[in-house]
Amino acid sequence: DSGIDLDRVAGLIRSVPDYPTPGVLFRDITPVLADGEAFAVVATELAALAGEADLVVGVEARGFLLGGAVALVAGVGTVPVRKAGKLPVVAATRTYDLEYGTATLELAADTVAPGTRVYVVDDVLATGGTAAAACALLTDVGAEVVGFGALLELPALGGRSKLGDVRVDALLNG
Ligand code: PRP
Repeated sequence: DSGIDLDRVAGLIRSVPDYPTPGVLFRDITPVLADGEAFAVVATELAALAGEADLVVGVEARGFLLGGAVALVAGVGTVPVRKAGKLPVVAATRTYDLEYGTATLELAADTVAPGTRVYVVDDVLATGGTAAAACALLTDVGAEVVGFGALLELPALGGRSKLGDVRVDALLNG
């Protein structure tokens, strides 16, 4: 037993008003990652939810840290979904609306084979644009998205509805 539960994890998440734009309450989960016990609890819980996935995909940027840990616990590999312009050879690109502005995500060529069962991980599910775009990139290359897992979901923003048939897991609601 780790001696720490999700209530303590929730207490580590910092809310920052008016960042990155006025009116947005930014949720900073990096204190969770900085706490070894909390990080282990979160990675273990998400790895259990990843089930029989062949691969964990982490979404830039905090999703990289979570996704890598989840993959290691689950005993599978990890692949990053990146913001535009970071990858030398791109297999798929998706542009979407963010809570604040727009963004484009990309998946590198030759990283996810058709038929791969993928679990997608990010820190926060807010409006759902990021998660939906990440999952779409994977279906674009013929992968099967078995679920999307977030440390924190903000249900008031309705992001879950953008994920269609994809199962959505959230360890915490805020
Ligand atoms: C945050 C968060 C998710 C996304 C969720 O990323 O890490 O990826 O927003 O928002 P959505 O559900 O409304 O799409 P951010 O844009 O802050 O990028 P970063 O992780 O690279 O800092």
